[in-house]
Amino acid sequence: MKVDLLLGLQWGDEGKGKIVDVLTSKYDIIARFQGGPNAGHTLVFNNKKYVLHTIPSGIFHKNKINLIGNGVVIDPVILCKEILNIRNENIKISETLLISKKAHLILPTHRILDAASEMSKGKNKIGSTLKGIGPTYMDKTGRNGFRVGELESKKWKDKYVELRDKHIELIKFFKVNLNFNLKKLEEEFFQSVDELKKIDFVDSENFLFEANDKKILAEGAQGSLLDIDFGTYPYVTSSNTTAAGACTGLGISPNSVNQVFGIFKAYTTRVGSGPFPTELFDSYGERMSKVGNEFGATTGRPRRCGWLDLVALKYACRVNGVSKLMMMKTDVLSGFDKVLVCTNYNYKGKIINYLPYDLSESSLKPVYKEFKGWSEDLRQIDSFENLPENLNYYIKFLEKELEVPIVIVSVGPDRKETLFR
Ligand code: GDP
Ligand code: IMO
Ligand code: MG
Repeated sequence: MKVDLLLGLQWGDEGKGKIVDVLTSKYDIIARFQGGPNAGHTLVFNNKKYVLHTIPSGIFHKNKINLIGNGVVIDPVILCKEILNIRNENIKISETLLISKKAHLILPTHRILDAASEMSKGKNKIGSTLKGIGPTYMDKTGRNGFRVGELESKKWKDKYVELRDKHIELIKFFKVNLNFNLKKLEEEFFQSVDELKKIDFVDSENFLFEANDKKILAEGAQGSLLDIDFGTYPYVTSSNTTAAGACTGLGISPNSVNQVFGIFKAYTTRVGSGPFPTELFDSYGERMSKVGNEFGATTGRPRRCGWLDLVALKYACRVNGVSKLMMMKTDVLSGFDKVLVCTNYNYKGKIINYLPYDLSESSLKPVYKEFKGWSEDLRQIDSFENLPENLNYYIKFLEKELEVPIVIVSVGPDRKETLFR
């Protein structure tokens, strides 16, 4: 079995959904390995746009298996809405979507706990998507979680009630004023569970062992800087978004990993709270936000924008062992008179080229290298060779610094707006 990984190298929303969709024709199985409906992966083709949260981004291709791995946390309500949303594309979900029995379920009370926790943090809130991700992974590692396989037991509702009641006690602990109608949320949850049961639950690690002649692409969610261990803790998500997460989230061994595709935007965005050294508060940032339409695919919140941070990108390449890079949203920078890249940090008066323990310190300032901009509309360009000279120079500089080749330059949201090298 050989598995290629596709991982976001920044704070998420790099364009993973688009590229997984573009690459799917080369694979037999597309597998999500972590995260849950906090993710929003956008695909654009035939003038239509779809946002996937839990379903892998290979779902629109015929005869491909899409697997939701054990490392994912699933909200049945959101998953059912996703399925409804793609019904017009004539996809036989019952034949192409599989769910690991070991994946954990997000209960309505997990979502309420998420909201209570955030509310109690006040101005120190994480900026969570409020999808119940943190509380569900806490129950998983605390060994209280509710797994998909449980739904095959006749007594699953007893287990549900036990966990729900525990959550109700926990919610009181936060002493916040939250309005929710649990009865209504539960009705929706139970209906969705009935729908979920129509999908095949599998021992997904065994399924993948058996698929040893198949080509597998593992689709990451979020990005390396949101990794629970290597991200900007505590302003992170609750799973390992880095390469190692694919091994634990699918049950594959490290030596089965072949290519590690690292995907990044030609600039940087972040949604939610937490440090962001190259964040812009000027007209350049506003232009990125406007031209890049930088609003969260899951929550609709505006994304914070800034220049590319090479120090952080290099760190992400190392942690993941990235073998090939893909640069996204390059078209958004067209028309900028200059493009800056952070090459080092000035940290407590010293120039450093690594990520210090805490990126939020006010004594940390980015050091920039300036590049000439380009004015050509990249969306009209159809090959790597025809890219503007100034952009070529920018790409060559990044490759030299990162010591990894850039094999795809994306120049628009559509499947077709993708240049391969
Ligand atoms: P993901 O979470 O990594 O899958 O990324 P999102 O879907 O959350 O955000 C990426 C956004 O950028 C989506 O709206 C995409 O349609 C869009 N997009 C992807 N690639 C490009 C590109 O090369 N240029 C432009 N302008 N938009 C892109
Ligand atoms: P995709 O897969 C961008 C951010 C949230 C918040 C922090 C914790 O689309 O790239 P959580 O809901 O996980 O408790 O939120 O992580 N976040 C994302 N930001 N893209 C995502 O996913 C994200 N998933 C979570 O905004 O700051
Ligand atoms: Mg997204």
